[in-house]
Amino acid sequence: MQNFDIVVTGDCNLDLIFNQFDRLPKLGEEIIANQFELALGSSAGIVAAHMAALGARVAYVGAIGSDSFGEQFMAFLQSYGVCTDFMVEKAGFKTGCTVVMAKEEDRANLTHAGAMAELTPQDLPWHVIEKTPFFHMSNPYVLPLFRNELSALYQKLKESGTITSLDPQWDVNEQWDTNLKELLPVLDYFLPNNKELELLLAGNNLEQDALIAISSTQIIKTCGNKGVEIIQGNEIQQFKSYLNEQPVDCIGAGDAFTAGFLTATIEGKSLKEAINFGCKTGALSTTIEGGKVPYGSRKEFNDQFTKLF
Ligand SMILES: Nc1ncnc2c1ncn2[C@@H]1O[C@H](COP(=O)(O)OP(=O)(O)OP(=O)(O)O)[C@@H](O)[C@H]1O
Ligand SMILES: [Mg+2]
Repeated sequence: MQNFDIVVTGDCNLDLIFNQFDRLPKLGEEIIANQFELALGSSAGIVAAHMAALGARVAYVGAIGSDSFGEQFMAFLQSYGVCTDFMVEKAGFKTGCTVVMAKEEDRANLTHAGAMAELTPQDLPWHVIEKTPFFHMSNPYVLPLFRNELSALYQKLKESGTITSLDPQWDVNEQWDTNLKELLPVLDYFLPNNKELELLLAGNNLEQDALIAISSTQIIKTCGNKGVEIIQGNEIQQFKSYLNEQPVDCIGAGDAFTAGFLTATIEGKSLKEAINFGCKTGALSTTIEGGKVPYGSRKEFNDQFTKLF
C-alpha cells in the first residue's frame, strides 16, 4: 500500500457557482447568470487539494453517491494528486452539491448534503489511518453521524499514536454543544475561527481562560485579516496576517491556512514557522475567487506568493 502523510476527511460536495446576474430569482422566475463554474466544494476537499498541491501525500475520505457528480468530485481531487481510493459510495444517495449564487462579496447558498451526511466513523479506512502519521477532519457538523462521536473518534486516534487536527467550521444546527472538556485533551491541533471558538466556549459555559485548565492542545484561532492567535497553556501568541487590503473574497482562506499549516507541520517545521506558512497560503487564497486552489505545485505557490506579497 502507498504511504501517506495525512488522511483528510469531512464534508464532500461540488459547488455550482453562478456569477454575474442582476438579482436573485424569486420563486417562479428565471434569471440569467453570465458566468458559471463547476468547482470542488467542501472545506475538507479544499484542504486536501491545497495540501497535495503543496507537496503532501494526501488520502481523502468522504462519502459520495454512485453518480457523475461523485466522479467529478474525485477527478478534481485527483487533478491535484490527492488519493481517492478510500472514498465511500452510498447507494441510494446523491453526491452532495451546493448551488452558490455569488454577488459582489456575498453569496446565497443552497445545499443538498446527500451522501456526504451518511459518512460514519466505521467508514473511515482504519488500516490506512493506523499507518499514517496525521489525521485531519473538517466540518464535522454536516456529518450527523459524527456529531456525538468526536471525542471517541479522537480518543481512538490518540491511542493509535496519530497526530490529529480538527477544523470545526460553523455548527449548521447552531447547537455549539461539543464537549470541549472531553475533546480537547485528545486532540493535538484545534483550528476554529474566532467566532466559532466564541460560540463553542459559550455552549460549554466556559471563559477562554478556562481552556488553559483543559489541556495542552494547541488552539489555533484564526481571526480573518487580523491573523492568528495560538492559545496554549497560559500563553497567547499573536501572528499577523500577510494583509491583503483588497481581497477578491475571503472564502476558503481558513481552508488554505489549515492546508499550509498542516503541510509545514508534516515537514517538521516549528509551530511558528507552520503558522507563518499557513498565513501565506491563507493570504494567497484571498487574491482569487472562492475556495479555488490557484497553484498545482509548491514552486507555483512560491512564485505567485512572491509576485503578489
Ligand atoms: N484579507 C486577508 N488578508 C490576508 N490574509 C488573510 C485575509 N483573510 C484571511 N487571511 C488569512 O487566512 C487565515 C484564515 O482566515 P479566516 O479566519 O477568515 O478563516 P475562516 O473564517 O475559517 O474561513 P473559511 O472557513 O471561510 O475558509 C487568517 O488567519 C489569515 O492568516
Ligand atoms: Mg473556517
